[in-house]
Amino acid sequence: MSFMKNLKATAAVVALSTGVAQAADVEVLHWWTSGGEAAALNVLKGDLEGQGIGWQDMPVAGGGGEQAMTVLRARVTAGNAPTAVQMLGFDIQDWAKEGALANLNDLAAAEGWDDVVPEALQGFAKHDGKWISAPVNVHSTNWVWANKAVLDTNGIAVPETWDDFAAAVDALSAAGITPIAHGGQAWQDATVFDAVVMSTGGPDFYKAAFIDLDEEALGSDTMKEAFDRMAFIRANVDDNFSGRDWNLATAMVINGDAGFQMMGDWAKGEFLNAGKVPGQDFLCFRFPGTQNQVTFNADQFAMFDQGGAVSAEQSALAQAILSPTFQSAFNVVKGSVPARTDVSDADFDDCGKQGMKDLAAAASSGNLFGSMAHGHAAPASIKNAVYDVVTAHFNGEYDSATAVTELVDAVSIAK
Ligand code: GAL
Repeated sequence: MSFMKNLKATAAVVALSTGVAQAADVEVLHWWTSGGEAAALNVLKGDLEGQGIGWQDMPVAGGGGEQAMTVLRARVTAGNAPTAVQMLGFDIQDWAKEGALANLNDLAAAEGWDDVVPEALQGFAKHDGKWISAPVNVHSTNWVWANKAVLDTNGIAVPETWDDFAAAVDALSAAGITPIAHGGQAWQDATVFDAVVMSTGGPDFYKAAFIDLDEEALGSDTMKEAFDRMAFIRANVDDNFSGRDWNLATAMVINGDAGFQMMGDWAKGEFLNAGKVPGQDFLCFRFPGTQNQVTFNADQFAMFDQGGAVSAEQSALAQAILSPTFQSAFNVVKGSVPARTDVSDADFDDCGKQGMKDLAAAASSGNLFGSMAHGHAAPASIKNAVYDVVTAHFNGEYDSATAVTELVDAVSIAK
């Protein structure tokens, strides 16, 4: 028996003999609390249980993970870090800089992660040459989800351009249907903004504004146009959008109460969880005008240093997460695509297959960019500054020209 298997077997014995939470469990802090997310998480729990490793659940509701990150800070400050934490992009690097994360290099070398994890993800999963987190998936934010029957009944084809999209929205509005399902929470406003900025200005503009944080791009007429488009979107959501959770907005599309939702592909998990079939009940397509680009965010599990070498449970969790069979099984349910380049698309539905193709094409053509809304374009301080301005504008606190000025100021202060 290998050293690793030995450790796992020991963990199993300890878990079986006491039946309560103890050292051989993994405590996992995450924000996967919607129906689709929970279904995906069960794939991971089941995998670990099969290895005799217990799961102590630490869910902190709130899409995008802001609340989860607040809870994490409190836990670490109290000297009680969870074993593993769902985390996005720059947050991982921030914790690594604080020296809080365990070194997974031995496992990464044994499993050959350097060869199979996409480079864009390695940029966040490694710090100072050390692997400090295990990538679970690749999501992307520039998707639209549509109710097929609603579109068909109203003679609406999949929109290719912003103008097509605006015409489709107007047609639904004229027919008395809520065109856009949206939840008014800062991270959701910002998720839509990712796609709108990409569509309005194209990839060079997105990069200049959100990754290079170039003042000229942030303060440009193109950015003003992006805010104008956000105002159009705001004008076409229902009256109860404020504060609504993202999965409830997805449910509006699922139930035919709205035509479209602009949301990352975790939305697909909700459709699947409701028994809906892509191409029959719902449609997935890239936000009009971003067909060749991908704005990505990858969920990873960062392993917190428990005082010494990486623990056997942390290794087992990380190893399970990166295994090719798990990558397929989990991402099929979650709506995301694998965090490895060598996983077959055979078990994925059409949206998943497209997602995998889009990701590979965008990576090789230089059209893959980190999502600002989900912590992969800039660190949290800047992301939060962008959130504030986008949300204030969305809620009508100021017009597009003012939003542009506010954005330049907010980013420059946060830098
Ligand atoms: C994202 C996360 C996704 C999904 C979403 C909504 O930040 O990457 O996995 O969970 O939030 O909760």
